[in-house]
Amino acid sequence: MTEKTWMYYSADNSKCLSAIWSQCLYYAAVVCLLIAPVGAEDACPSSCVCARDSGTVTCRDGDDTEVPEDIPAWTTTLILRGRNISTLQRGAFTVNGTELEMTTLSVSYNGIQSIEPYAFLGLPRLHLLDLSHNRLASVSARAFHGLPELRSLCLNHSILSLPAAQLSNALSTPTLSNLHRLDLAGNRLKSIPLISFDIYNLHTLVLVNNSIEVIGAENVSGLYQEARARIYLSLNPFRCGCDLQAFYYWLKNSSQCPDAERLLCSEPESRRGTPVEELRDEDVECISENLEAVSYVFLGLVLALIGLVFLMVLYLNRRGIKRWLNNIREACRDQMEVYHYRYEQDSDPRLANVAV
Ligand SMILES: *[C@@H]1O[C@H](CO)[C@@H](O)[C@H](O)[C@H]1NC(C)=O
Ligand SMILES: *[C@@H]1O[C@H](CO)[C@@H](O)[C@H](O)[C@H]1NC(C)=O
Ligand SMILES: *[C@@H]1O[C@H](CO)[C@@H](O)[C@H](O)[C@H]1NC(C)=O
Ligand SMILES: *[C@@H]1O[C@H](CO)[C@@H](O)[C@H](O)[C@H]1NC(C)=O
Ligand SMILES: *[C@@H]1O[C@H](CO)[C@@H](O)[C@H](O)[C@H]1NC(C)=O
Ligand SMILES: *[C@@H]1O[C@H](CO)[C@@H](O)[C@H](O)[C@H]1NC(C)=O
Repeated sequence: MTEKTWMYYSADNSKCLSAIWSQCLYYAAVVCLLIAPVGAEDACPSSCVCARDSGTVTCRDGDDTEVPEDIPAWTTTLILRGRNISTLQRGAFTVNGTELEMTTLSVSYNGIQSIEPYAFLGLPRLHLLDLSHNRLASVSARAFHGLPELRSLCLNHSILSLPAAQLSNALSTPTLSNLHRLDLAGNRLKSIPLISFDIYNLHTLVLVNNSIEVIGAENVSGLYQEARARIYLSLNPFRCGCDLQAFYYWLKNSSQCPDAERLLCSEPESRRGTPVEELRDEDVECISENLEAVSYVFLGLVLALIGLVFLMVLYLNRRGIKRWLNNIREACRDQMEVYHYRYEQDSDPRLANVAV
């Protein structure tokens, strides 16, 4: 290679390098432009605080009445609080129909009144759902569909005027089969709002501070079957009579109720404030009531027997009675004749004139 050609080459090379350089810049710009929207998606929703390290997005007390639409894809914990969201609509937490890896969702204190079908769609990894302190009045039977990994559901202090059947239908979803903890404290419930215990894998059921007066024998047999489950029941107004017998024995025999010593009678008046556990067996026995029923039947039988004996006596004595009746009739007739005679005498006009 001559010197001249070398110079030519190097000149060409530098030209080439600058061409490559400008090409690089061009691609970099294009790549930057392409990356820009991805960066925007990562941004924190307005009026929220994001902690990317822990995957937590917290949105408090905004004027928004909706769930933020731009929840970042990296979110594992979403906390929405004090936002006046009245309705959770279908797929409220999905972003453009894509699933989120979220494991914890807390939407307490939002005044939520209604949960529509499939509201939690697109959250297949959700472990904990906190809906406490809302004002639920309507919950779809399919509200909790699509939550196969859910372990804890908090519905404490969250029910305002929800019909019991609606709640038990919503909670009877087979997709809640992994549920370990269900918190229903402070909801004025009158009964356990579960159709059956078998469909869940319940470890803890919190029914503290409700309006449960009696837990019937059918429900108690269900409780015995769920030997692993712990049921919290303090602050309920128990009616301590014969209806409570099966429950009373469950309380004494099983150790499934951790707050057993704090369950108090509210009725009858004479037992108000007495711990259910400290009742005597006689207090909840139904025998006295049975005895009463038995004694009424016995009284009826005795009366019937007396009636029968009376009729028999009448029958056997019919001749004597006939004679007796005849005697009476004759006596009457004699008497009547005497009267008749006196009447005729009284009505004699001569005697009347004498009297005048
Ligand atoms: C919540 O929003 C509803 C309208 O969606 C409004 O009527 C109500 O007053 C709001 N409540 C609060 C406490 O802001
Ligand atoms: C959602 O999809 C629409 C169009 O389908 C698009 O304009 C929008 O940017 C998407 N939003 C997000 C957060 O991906
Ligand atoms: C509601 O229940 C959850 C889970 O059991 C509990 O952590 C929380 O403290 C409860 N809230 C109130 C106000 O009791
Ligand atoms: C019981 O629940 C009611 C709401 O149903 C609440 O107002 C009250 O403070 C609760 N009581 C206790 C002792 O937690
Ligand atoms: C409790 O008993 C009622 C009938 O009194 C029944 O409908 C309900 O399914 C029972 N629930 C459980 C969990 O046993
Ligand atoms: C529970 O214990 C009582 C005696 O305290 C007993 O009469 C009853 O049969 C027991 N019930 C069960 C189901 O174990």
